[in-house]
Amino acid sequence: MDISKEEEIMLNGDLGEGTRMAMEIILKLGEYYGAKNTVKIENVQISGISYKNLGDYGIDLLKKFKDSKIKVPSYLNPISFDPDYIEFFTNNNEFIKGQMEILDIFKSLGAHLSLTCTPYYLFEPKLNDHIAWAESSAIVYANSVLGARTNRESGISALAAALTGRAANYGLHLDKGRRATVQVDFDFNPGFFDYAVIGLFLGSMIKNGIPYFRNLENNKDALKSLGAALNASGSIPMFHAENITPEYKDAIQEKIEKLIISKDEINNFRLSITANMDPDVVMIGCPHLSHEELKNISAFIKKRKVKNGRDLIFFTSRKVREESMDYVNIIKNSGAKIFTDTCMVVSPLQERYSVVGLNSGKATYYVGKERKVFFSDMVTLMEMVTDEN
Ligand code: F3S
Repeated sequence: MDISKEEEIMLNGDLGEGTRMAMEIILKLGEYYGAKNTVKIENVQISGISYKNLGDYGIDLLKKFKDSKIKVPSYLNPISFDPDYIEFFTNNNEFIKGQMEILDIFKSLGAHLSLTCTPYYLFEPKLNDHIAWAESSAIVYANSVLGARTNRESGISALAAALTGRAANYGLHLDKGRRATVQVDFDFNPGFFDYAVIGLFLGSMIKNGIPYFRNLENNKDALKSLGAALNASGSIPMFHAENITPEYKDAIQEKIEKLIISKDEINNFRLSITANMDPDVVMIGCPHLSHEELKNISAFIKKRKVKNGRDLIFFTSRKVREESMDYVNIIKNSGAKIFTDTCMVVSPLQERYSVVGLNSGKATYYVGKERKVFFSDMVTLMEMVTDEN
């Protein structure tokens, strides 16, 4: 690979051992994927920072980078609890200490403690910006809705990108890596919740590649849900949506496979993965809820109360919560809980419940590995655990 003077200095260890290791990781990745050089990146998003994921082994690994400093704005994924309500999540002091140590390390490296999987609500990368994001749902959104360019980074390769300001120049950084590989049509008009089911279904069916959708609605929350599910059950870091994805006109350069998804297929798939049991908790906010979603939830829940013995929990980012306090207060008045900085997957919360109601394809994919999941649309779920006033 071609290496610049600046990269050579990093590789020599002149900027510290952490930066040297980070540069080595970027170059090794580049060699593996056949990159000719690196590309300078605008910002980074680092995932896998919950103590539930990392554990003590991960902390020891992170400590190896402690003598270095982050070079570009770098944002963090959710952690294992909402720091304002730790007691609701865990009373295990070792667990709390471990999570706080991880945050301290990232703080000393210079990361923003944003703790959200929706960094695009903090700032929007611009068209064709090269970025290095690791949160699987955010990667799809950045590539497909915003037209920024990122590969599916791991937590460690995103950290390496943060410490060097670079990513290996391959895959989705290049025009040719962003071409569609399969065209997808429907025999019906998908509603909001269908996007989550379609994502989960299609991801598990095609596993990888870049779908080209012809009939999607330009609803950013639905597209967020679709992308999150696609990149959970499959390894699909981008889709093209006609008239939505900025570069959709260049997406198909040669004959590609065509698929038609029917309403029956989607319904049968949903029924095959959902438990036919009432949920004792409903958790909504995977990926973290937007201002608009909180607005819709508050309108629905205004005249309702959470039933005794049930829980209704929402997840969003600290920033979106602060911008949506009117809606947040209405939601809390119903007896529902709103947490920030964490979620149903990276926290130990699901351990408190036996049947979890979810409207997210991604959350269903992960929570479903450990718990029974009732997978349905948001209104149905909220109706199941609330009563009218
Ligand atoms: Fe975000 Fe957690 Fe879902 S990190 S995308 S809410 S699994």
